[in-house]
Amino acid sequence: MDLCFKGKVALVSGAGSQIGFGKAIALLLAKEGCDTVAVTDVNLEDAEKTADAVKKLGGGSLAVRADITRKAEVDAMVKKVLEKYSKIDILCNVAGAILHKDNVPLDQQDGEVWTRQMDLNLFGTMNVTRAVLPGMRERKYGVIVNIGSGSTHQYSMGVGMYAMSKFAIDLFTKQLATAESRSGIRVNCVAPGPAPTNFGAVLREGLPPPTPEQAKQMRERMLSTMPLGRIGTAADIANATVFLASDVTSYVTGQVFHVSGGSVM
Ligand SMILES: NC(=O)c1ccc[n+]([C@@H]2O[C@H](COP(=O)([O-])OP(=O)(O)OC[C@H]3O[C@@H](n4cnc5c(N)ncnc54)[C@H](O)[C@@H]3O)[C@@H](O)[C@H]2O)c1
Repeated sequence: MDLCFKGKVALVSGAGSQIGFGKAIALLLAKEGCDTVAVTDVNLEDAEKTADAVKKLGGGSLAVRADITRKAEVDAMVKKVLEKYSKIDILCNVAGAILHKDNVPLDQQDGEVWTRQMDLNLFGTMNVTRAVLPGMRERKYGVIVNIGSGSTHQYSMGVGMYAMSKFAIDLFTKQLATAESRSGIRVNCVAPGPAPTNFGAVLREGLPPPTPEQAKQMRERMLSTMPLGRIGTAADIANATVFLASDVTSYVTGQVFHVSGGSVM
C-alpha cells in the first residue's frame, strides 16, 4: 500500500524518549517514505538521538527543543522547522505525561497539579497545533494526529485529572476537525492503552522498585484486563498513528481510534 509520504514533511512532538511513542512514530514515518521528520521535545539531547536515527534511515531531520507549555518556545520551534523545510504537512502531537500520582480522590488533590496537567496535555497540544495551522491552511493541506488515552474510558483512582485532560484531547480533535473540514486539514486521535514507555515513571517516583513477585502480580493484573491478552507496544501506537497520518485515510477525520488491546470497546 502506498501511504503517499513522498515529498512530505512531518513534525513529531514528544519524540525524545528513546522508548516512547514519539520516536517510534518518527522512525516509522521515515521508514514509510516521509522525506523529512522534524522532531521536538523538552529534552533536546534525546530529541537529537531520534533525529540521528531518522537520518540513518535516509530521511531528513532536525531536532528542536521546546517545552510545549510555553507558547514562545513553541512558536520559535515551528519557525525554525519552517525556515529549514518551508512547510509542515503532518503534525503528530505526542508530547504529554501524567503529572500526579496521588492515590486519592480528585477533590483531595492539589489544585495546582490540576492546572499543570491541563496546561501540558491540552494546552500544550493546542500551542503546537496553533503554530502549525496557518501554513497548513495556506497550502490547503494538513494532517494532524493527536495522542489521547484509553484512560478516558476507565475509572482509576489517582489518574482522574490525567484522564480528563485526555478526554479534552478527544474533544479538541473533533472541534478542530469540524472547523478545518473545508480547509484540507484532517484531524484524528489515537488513544493508546498501557504500554511500557517512560510514561509510568512519575507513578513509580519515590517508591521502592517492586519485588519480582510484586512485578509478576502487577503484570498479571494488567494482562487480565486486556482482552487480546498482551500489553501494547510503541510499534502498535506508531502503526495506527502513521496510518491516520497517511493519505490512505483521506476520508477519515474527527475520529478517536482506540489502540488498547480491546480494553476499550
Ligand atoms: N505509555 C502509555 O501507557 C500511554 C498510554 C496512553 C497514552 N499515553 C500518551 O502517549 C504520549 C507519549 O507518551 P509515552 O508513553 O511515549 O511516554 P514517554 O514519557 O516515554 O514520552 C513522552 C515524551 O514527551 C516529552 N515531554 C513531556 N513533557 C513535555 C513538554 N512540556 N514539552 C515537550 N515535550 C515534553 C518527554 O520528554 C518525553 O520524551 C503521551 O501523551 C501520553 O500521555 C501513554
